[in-house]
This record gives sequence, C-alpha cells and structure tokens, in this order.
Amino acid sequence: MNNLSIQHLTGIKDLTPEDIEIIFKTTDSFKQVINRPIKKVPSLRDITVANLFFENSTRTKLSFELAEKRLSSDVINFSSSSSSVKKGETLLDTVNNILSMKIDMVVIRHPNPGAALYLSKRINATVINAGDGAHEHPTQALLDAYSIREKLGSVSGKKVVIVGDILHSRVALSNIYCLQKLGAEVMVCGPTTLIPKYINELGVQVSHNLREALEWCDVANMLRIQLERQEISFFPSFREYTMQFGLTKEILDSLSKKIIIMHPGPINRGVEISSDVADSSQSIILNQVENGVAVRMAVIYLLAAKIER
Ligand code: CP
Repeated sequence: MNNLSIQHLTGIKDLTPEDIEIIFKTTDSFKQVINRPIKKVPSLRDITVANLFFENSTRTKLSFELAEKRLSSDVINFSSSSSSVKKGETLLDTVNNILSMKIDMVVIRHPNPGAALYLSKRINATVINAGDGAHEHPTQALLDAYSIREKLGSVSGKKVVIVGDILHSRVALSNIYCLQKLGAEVMVCGPTTLIPKYINELGVQVSHNLREALEWCDVANMLRIQLERQEISFFPSFREYTMQFGLTKEILDSLSKKIIIMHPGPINRGVEISSDVADSSQSIILNQVENGVAVRMAVIYLLAAKIER
C-alpha cells in the first residue's frame, strides 16, 4: 500500500510509522530522479501549488519550489513582506483570494503555531506545513530522519541528541516525534532555560552536559538559538553559551567514537558549531539539504494522489 493515512501534512504527530516508511520509499525513487541528467518527471502536470511564506526562509522555500518544479507542477510564490497582509488582510482572506485562482495545494510557513492546521480545516486545498512558529516543521524532521537512515542504514535503535534551543524550536519537536516513531532513542541537551518544562512528557532524556550527551549518542543534531522567538535573554551571553554548548573540533575528536553531525540550518558558525565541525567529514549538513528536495517531492506526490480530480 502506498497510501498515506493523512490528507494534509500539518505535523509529524499525525503520521504513523507506516506513513513515514511510505514517504522514505518514495523519496528513494525521487533521489534517483534528481540525480539523473533530466531531473524532472511529468507526474503532477495537472497540479498548481502556492508557496505562502509569512516568515523568512532560504532552504525550505527553495527546496519546496524545486521539488514542485521537478514534479512538473505549476508554482506560485507569495511572500508576506511584499503582500497586502501589510495592509491588514487576514490569513484566511489572503489564502482564499489566492485559492480562487484554482490552487490545489498550499505550502505554508507562518510565525503562529497552528496556522497550517487552522487553514487545513477551512480551505478546499491540501495543506503542507513548512514551519509554524515554535510548533512543528514536519518536512525538516522527515529529511533529517531520512538522512540518518541513509548514513547509518536505519533509524531504529540509534541514539540521537538534539542540542541547543529546544524551547523555541519546531525542528526539535518534529524530530522528537519522528525519531521516536521510527524507534530511535532521543536526548535533548542545552541550558535549563532553553529546555521546555513539559519535556518529560515527550519521553526523551535530558542532559545539560554537552560532552556527556555526545558520548551517549550516534548522531548530534545541533540547533541554533532562535533569537526571533526570544523577547528576553535565556542565557548570559553568546560567549558563555558557546563555551558550554558550542561543538568544537577539539570536543568532537576527543570522543570515544565517531558520531554524525547534523544541523537544520541556518548555521551560526562559531556559536553552536565551529566551522571546522560544520565542514568536517562527520558532518552531513549538505546531504540534509540535498535530501530535502527528494523528501518534499515524495510528500507532495503522495498527498497529490489524494486530491480528487
Ligand atoms: N531549516 C530551515 O527551515 O531553514 P529555513 O528557515 O532557511 O527554511
């Protein structure tokens, strides 16, 4: 069966492990496509996708647009900074105006948690969440887990530590859900002030000691500090954060085994990760970006199959 249990992708929380395996198998096929001289398939010539970005993005926006174009769908792009949202239009009005142009699928990034779910219940189009505030970033978690599977053969049984600003991170929450559904053990590591109080309910281990966390894990996913979601300071200074939680080559080389280093981007070199670690042979950061296109092709393709037409 190649049929997802969902109509929209608003969060990893809604996916079954079987859904994730279907997405990964489809991603395997699309990875072959994007490594061919002709990187395009005609699968979605009859689909129009609107990319609605109400918040800044580099990787996710480009990756979705490329994925849509590789599937031969028609694409329109909307950015709130250059739109009538600035003139007071509501999210629903903006989206409904766009949908009246006969749009089949909406990819939305929004600063408010729940924006994608809200839309999915109100509009007649398939919705994909490209990041909603500090809530979820499902395609990022899927590409992260796919990259671990590609590098280590499987996700099940692997130990993954997510380091940094867990409190404000949609990547962390989606990764925790996704990795656990695939049978990985998850630890979060960071200053007490950047670990949410509800973390124990998620069934993850918690460490405030970077070296201890790195000795435990097979994979370390380093997150940046989400300054755009912090109205107050959660640690004394970047220098002190880096001294306690910044991953340097010296620490990496001193570990008793070789671990895999990941980062969802954007990277703050010299803060959460040093340049020589980000560019080291243990880093799969650029593989994550490459896999993002194939994973998003798979998600769009599988959800488009559920559209009545
Ligand atoms: N990883 C990620 O979501 O990056 P962007 O904010 O550049 O899309």
